[in-house]
Amino acid sequence: MDGIRISVLGMGYVGLAGGMGYAKHGFKTIVTATTPSKVENLNKGIPPFYEPELEGLVRTEVNRGMLSATLNNLEAIRQSNVTFICVGTPSLPDGSADLGAVEAVAKDIGIAIRDKDGYHVVATKSTVVPGTTENLVLPIVEKYSGKKAGKDFGLVMNPEFLRQGQAVHDSLYPDRIVIGEHDAKAGEVIHKIYRDYKNDKEEPVPILHVEIKAAELIKYAANSLLATKITFANEFSRICEEFNIDVYEVMKGVGLDFRINPMFLNAGCGFGGSCFPKDVNAIVALAKKIGVETPLMDAVLYTNDIQPMHFIDIIKETVGNLKGKTVAFLGLSFKPDTDDTRATRALPIIEKLYEEGAMVKAYDPKAYYKFKPLTDLPIGYMDTIEEALKDADFAVVQSDWQEIREIEPETLKRLLKKPIVIDGRRSYDPERLKKAGVVYKGVGWKNRE
Ligand code: UGA
Repeated sequence: MDGIRISVLGMGYVGLAGGMGYAKHGFKTIVTATTPSKVENLNKGIPPFYEPELEGLVRTEVNRGMLSATLNNLEAIRQSNVTFICVGTPSLPDGSADLGAVEAVAKDIGIAIRDKDGYHVVATKSTVVPGTTENLVLPIVEKYSGKKAGKDFGLVMNPEFLRQGQAVHDSLYPDRIVIGEHDAKAGEVIHKIYRDYKNDKEEPVPILHVEIKAAELIKYAANSLLATKITFANEFSRICEEFNIDVYEVMKGVGLDFRINPMFLNAGCGFGGSCFPKDVNAIVALAKKIGVETPLMDAVLYTNDIQPMHFIDIIKETVGNLKGKTVAFLGLSFKPDTDDTRATRALPIIEKLYEEGAMVKAYDPKAYYKFKPLTDLPIGYMDTIEEALKDADFAVVQSDWQEIREIEPETLKRLLKKPIVIDGRRSYDPERLKKAGVVYKGVGWKNRE
């Protein structure tokens, strides 16, 4: 294959951050979307969502002529010889993944490569259950192209491990690259794309070549294990609270074992986002379908659902009856540095606060436009943290954006009716707040001391 030219179908976090990375590494890349305004804006260097540093990097690549967008999948595929499938695979009501978008773009790939000369590599990046690339993508591409996989076109599955909020960092400096290959030639082409990628210590990135189905499962297994680590810390947080022990101190002691590592042991009011809840549900649904029991994953989902209600219990233990109380609610996105509110724990917590008779004045730096459509509750959406805090009975933190973490104890004392913070994310040093005269309570803290 002569020079690699890339098309990326889908302009979400995976498609755009990945596409920007390919362009930055010198591969001419076209990304596609189905919304005209997204394409127009991208061609002016404006991404369709907020992600730290992304806009500047996208603009640079657009201005250099390395990155562009189109509405036309066929045109993008024809101008390239490697196509990444980066469309969404949202949850269906039974927890399984909706593969409608994957099927649609596989058909486009088939049609586009029908009359195209030369070898073309098709790479699934969307999160799909084992067997999807070979049993769904492959036959559709073969049917519409009249060509043969492994001969006329290559097929791989190359999962993405980026975190929202750190999409730029994770796609430019990955820990590892996994290439599941249907045919070795296709695997080699994808290997070439990532050959010069370094991790954030400037070391070469390990590139793992595996069976295509193994690559599909690696993505689910990694997300399920990370969700399990968080859930483990959340369960221990409740034990810690009973004994007035700090769960962060406990998990620090646990995480220093190099076999465990300290990451993803931060207890909080539960994991949200578009990945962990969706992927654990999908693996549970798949296992059920094939008759495999998954008591551990079932428990992860169960514990994560009740964790926001446990947070409500901490709030009630601290302030008593919620009727008529005004709550300064800080952070609506599912985590800091993203405007994404999918499966955010803010929603069940706020719903319960209203059910208990409280009123919410919320603050989030970026997420209003995505949160507002989720609920009709009469939430006050404030322009500043100060407005949210002013005359509220107490403050609750759900998503620890830096500006929320940086609130000074004096500000809390000046603006809140009573200086009480109930922290769902360990955003503050509890001792510092206590010393300054602020009542600090939170998940996994010594709330009963
Ligand atoms: C997650 C994975 O971390 C990525 O590796 C993966 O590529 C991605 O899903 C995906 O499948 O696309 P993401 O959902 O963007 O990334 O965000 P995380 O940083 O993993 O956080 C997920 C949720 O877990 C958030 O609600 C966060 O607040 C919570 N969390 C995270 C904790 O409660 N405690 C922790 O220690 C870490």
